[in-house]
Amino acid sequence: MDVRTFATASEANAAALAELTREVRTQQEPVICFATGSTYAPIYAAIDAAVATGALELQKVIATHLDEYLEHEPETENGMVHEIVTRCPPLARLLARGRFWAVPSSGDPQLLRGHEARLATIGGISLVFLGIGRNGHIAFNEPGTPFEVGFHRTKLAETTREDARSRFAPKEPPREAVTAGLRTILGARRIVLVATGAGKAQAVRAMLEGPVTVSCPASALRQHGAVTVLLDAAAASALSLARREAHGS
Ligand code: F6R
Repeated sequence: MDVRTFATASEANAAALAELTREVRTQQEPVICFATGSTYAPIYAAIDAAVATGALELQKVIATHLDEYLEHEPETENGMVHEIVTRCPPLARLLARGRFWAVPSSGDPQLLRGHEARLATIGGISLVFLGIGRNGHIAFNEPGTPFEVGFHRTKLAETTREDARSRFAPKEPPREAVTAGLRTILGARRIVLVATGAGKAQAVRAMLEGPVTVSCPASALRQHGAVTVLLDAAAASALSLARREAHGS
């Protein structure tokens, strides 16, 4: 694993943008799977700005995303696709052109299998962006999820619902979602995970230094050969000193 620690979150975010730019420059038709959440809000702003200045070109990209709240269509406020395309107009343009493939949010297993198969027909995901939950989840693979599962319907952990509460208030946050499975994620050619802030420090430590176990879904990434982890100093703060020093924080 290539673990890089930066002094600030904005440097980690700039490194994530650089990974996207590199992918787009080196692949004919890159298939990029995007994440949502507060970690990615500034990254979407940076992508938008880079496209506006011509530093980044997304025309050739097939975009998709990790996960969606159950029964949230792309136009449903608070949904994941809605969040991505609102934050990042270039991705809204891909959606309008049929080049942003939304995860079927009904939870119908046949449709989810169809989505996975559709991605496979164009060569699979070339680059997947991930965040990490404070309970060690990636996408909505909550602790206990087996590593061998593809796209599926899932129940959200209480900490995940708690973190989503302000987004849905005064309504209750959803209890269920659809998500790329760990098999889907591990099937991508490259993986970039971004974690910023002290709230992620324990989950980052479990991912990198704890056992590889379903209790920490992010630890599954240690089974993949091309993972880049971009951390700010706060998210790296619980790592062993040797590892922190090795990566220059
Ligand atoms: C969202 C997703 C989640 C988040 C994680 C961190 O698409 O896949 O795994 O990446 O919950 O969320 P934030 O960035 O809001 O802390």
